[in-house]
Amino acid sequence: MAPPTFPLASSPFHAFVARRTGMALSDLQCRRLDEKLTARPGGLSPQYLMHLQSPAGAADLAELIDAISVQKTELFRDEPQLEALRTHVLGPMVARMRRPLRLWSAGCATGEEVATLLVMLAEVGADPASTVLGTDISETAITRARELCFSAEQLQRVPSGARERWFLPAAGGRFTLVGHLKDRAGFECHNLMDLPYPTAAEGQGFDVIVCRNVLIYFSPESFERVVASLAVRLAPEGMLVLSAAEPLLRTPPTLRTVRYEQAFFYARAQEAMAFADAVPPGAPRTPSSSGLPAVGTRQPLPRTPSVSGLPAVGTRFPAVQPQRMEGPAEVQPGEAGAHSEADALFAKVLEWASSGGEASPQTSEALRRCLALDPDLSAARYLMGMLLEQRGALAEAAVEYRRALRSLEEGRARATPFFLNNARLQVACARAIERVERGPGPAPAR
Ligand SMILES: C[S@@+](CC[C@H](N)C(=O)[O-])C[C@H]1O[C@@H](n2cnc3c(N)ncnc32)[C@H](O)[C@@H]1O
Repeated sequence: MAPPTFPLASSPFHAFVARRTGMALSDLQCRRLDEKLTARPGGLSPQYLMHLQSPAGAADLAELIDAISVQKTELFRDEPQLEALRTHVLGPMVARMRRPLRLWSAGCATGEEVATLLVMLAEVGADPASTVLGTDISETAITRARELCFSAEQLQRVPSGARERWFLPAAGGRFTLVGHLKDRAGFECHNLMDLPYPTAAEGQGFDVIVCRNVLIYFSPESFERVVASLAVRLAPEGMLVLSAAEPLLRTPPTLRTVRYEQAFFYARAQEAMAFADAVPPGAPRTPSSSGLPAVGTRQPLPRTPSVSGLPAVGTRFPAVQPQRMEGPAEVQPGEAGAHSEADALFAKVLEWASSGGEASPQTSEALRRCLALDPDLSAARYLMGMLLEQRGALAEAAVEYRRALRSLEEGRARATPFFLNNARLQVACARAIERVERGPGPAPAR
């Protein structure tokens, strides 16, 4: 494993910042942190660390966090997922609830996600009093987010029609969200590592919490902790939306995975039944015009659903329900039949994933078979990497992540139904490689 490239003296600072933000710092983030820390005149004394840990050091700490936080965002980011959110969650909620909806974009960066959600609410005819709260750890990001004003280039991603309806020309060739939508946005600086979490008006839960492309940077422990805390803030029938690059391999008992053709979301456990148009576990799938498998039947979820879910990185891989594995002997790698066989096996792995418990040799076996059938099924290779990573086999995990990344970069990987789209999977693989190559990192400073 490559030796750490940062000065040893800064490691307690790294550990503190990692703990405060929840992030598993990459080498690049460590280098950025070091640049900031070494640029200050006083040096890296224990007193300075204590200062950062005290309320008096909040502004200095905020600067360090800004230097390492990844604020990349876009209007209408990940359209297939948003389309599923619109069709299966927001639209039905508007029809069913007949009251203002309360949404939260946790880790909203510079506000593009908040604007997207406000536009989507308007487009599905939500009650005009519906609200979207945007929060982020970065004060700088929140200050920019409050403007809800974007460049012409950013606006290119907004579906035409919506662009004309909901944005107005502003100074400097920019475009601002229309006033009555802007009024429905609220912004707060909030660190997802800190309790209490925000509530909607009058202490109520949120109908939808969107926390996308935030937890991908977190350590496995922080990831799990944040997901559990977000689940507590969901209203009855509320839905949690993570990005496709942040799969939960083991859904917490408070959540149930609700799966649609091109996306999956997490509902409060007791209300998963409400989403009757979700793909039932084990539903037969037929090819759709989009090339992604379509759902063959639509049935309500069973009362105790064995829904699919993916473990958070580093969580224990789920046990496999006893099922007979169909052998792929009759199909050769690379054939269309092999691909659908691999997809079916992969779907089974996803189905098992929410059952909890220890890793099972059958799970690895299923993934190995998937990969024998389709070596470029990068989603399966990514899961294999996760499995090896949580077993502590970091070098082997890196090999799997690298292979997955290569086939994605070289355009050989097929899109995988219900899982990360390839662009996001590529980000997840690159992030995983950084993580396993860095190893467990410095011990947290106490
Ligand atoms: C890559 S952006 C994602 C923005 C948006 N959700 C999207 O998907 O386009 C990640 C954001 O998470 C924020 N973030 C990182 N750690 C956080 C924490 N502990 N609490 C709250 N926000 C955090 C960062 O400041 C950054 O703005």
